[in-house]
Amino acid sequence: MLSFHQAVTEDFEAVNQLILGQVHSDVDLVENIGNYLINAGGKRLRPLLVLLVAKALDYKGSEQHTLAAIIEFIHSATLLHDDVVDTSDMRRGRATANAKWGNAPSVLVGDFLYSRAFQMMVAIGSMPIMDILSNTTNTIAEGEVQQLINAGDPKLSEANYFDVIHKKTAVLFEAACETASVISEGDVNLQADLKAYGYHLGIAFQLVDDALDYTGSSEALGKNVGDDLAEGKPTLPLIYAMKNGTEQESKLIADTIRATSTDDRNAPVDPDTLKEIIAIIQRTGAIDYTHKKAEDHVSKAKASLSLLKDSRYKTELEKLAEFSLGRDH
Ligand code: IPE
Ligand code: IPE
Ligand code: MG
Ligand code: MG
Ligand code: MG
Repeated sequence: MLSFHQAVTEDFEAVNQLILGQVHSDVDLVENIGNYLINAGGKRLRPLLVLLVAKALDYKGSEQHTLAAIIEFIHSATLLHDDVVDTSDMRRGRATANAKWGNAPSVLVGDFLYSRAFQMMVAIGSMPIMDILSNTTNTIAEGEVQQLINAGDPKLSEANYFDVIHKKTAVLFEAACETASVISEGDVNLQADLKAYGYHLGIAFQLVDDALDYTGSSEALGKNVGDDLAEGKPTLPLIYAMKNGTEQESKLIADTIRATSTDDRNAPVDPDTLKEIIAIIQRTGAIDYTHKKAEDHVSKAKASLSLLKDSRYKTELEKLAEFSLGRDH
């Protein structure tokens, strides 16, 4: 458990129980795959955001647990789909569901978790919440397709990259914070600020994820490193390194990105090439640049909390933003 979970230990426990209870299906394979991913844990950052925001706004109702569980279900569904699309074979320190059971069951159980989230949303019965979360899931899907189109294209612009990470990752962070403030009936300006906090945190979170794909350790991360290059994903570290490397260095990166769209898709990149590209990324300062961008967003995330009254929950939200920068998992 990360330290900031302690501010909401009881709520957090209630959410975990709810999540486990809601994976239930009469079809064993559905429940086995769902439990397999969900029992592996993960950081549970998005439900934590729901709980901390609701507490920071003095929410006194009881919908925050369902809402937090819904958001984690949506996240879990995207992970099942993501690992199929990315042909990843390690997640949360274990074999991915697609590596263990195959692509078809993973996609279908992902759909089950998505639709379970919508069943739970109906139970809350709030049109504004349905509005936010239906737009969120739609945008995530769109962002993932946009990214798929971009794979293999070394000419991708930084602006296009930021658009994709907003859609595929930041919108769910935004939605966690916004829906929690909607149920708390917080002041409208504060709702917009909390949504902005989620946005900046989500962007920083994905920037760091993309840096960790080159610099992280797979033991700490619980997932393989180097997956992004194998998929030909022009993430910010590569975009920056191509722009600032020598002609030869840029060409090596561009050729490697392009090769993934013509060669056997997602075949691991030759280890020597991966090493060379990591060295170029380091030498050109691409990781520092990516971190600097993430720092800027974390500063903006924290600044977005200025109207929120002081409380230990606000402090935890600030700490969570800092954590997303320094994390190794
Ligand atoms: C992984 O999210 C997907 C990204 C947006 C990078 P997390 O890093 O929050 O995954 P878990 O839930 O902790 O495993
Ligand atoms: C995560 O992007 C985005 C979603 C899950 C929608 P990644 O593909 O980088 O996530 P990881 O690195 O596999 O967790
Ligand atoms: Mg992935
Ligand atoms: Mg992906
Ligand atoms: Mg990643």
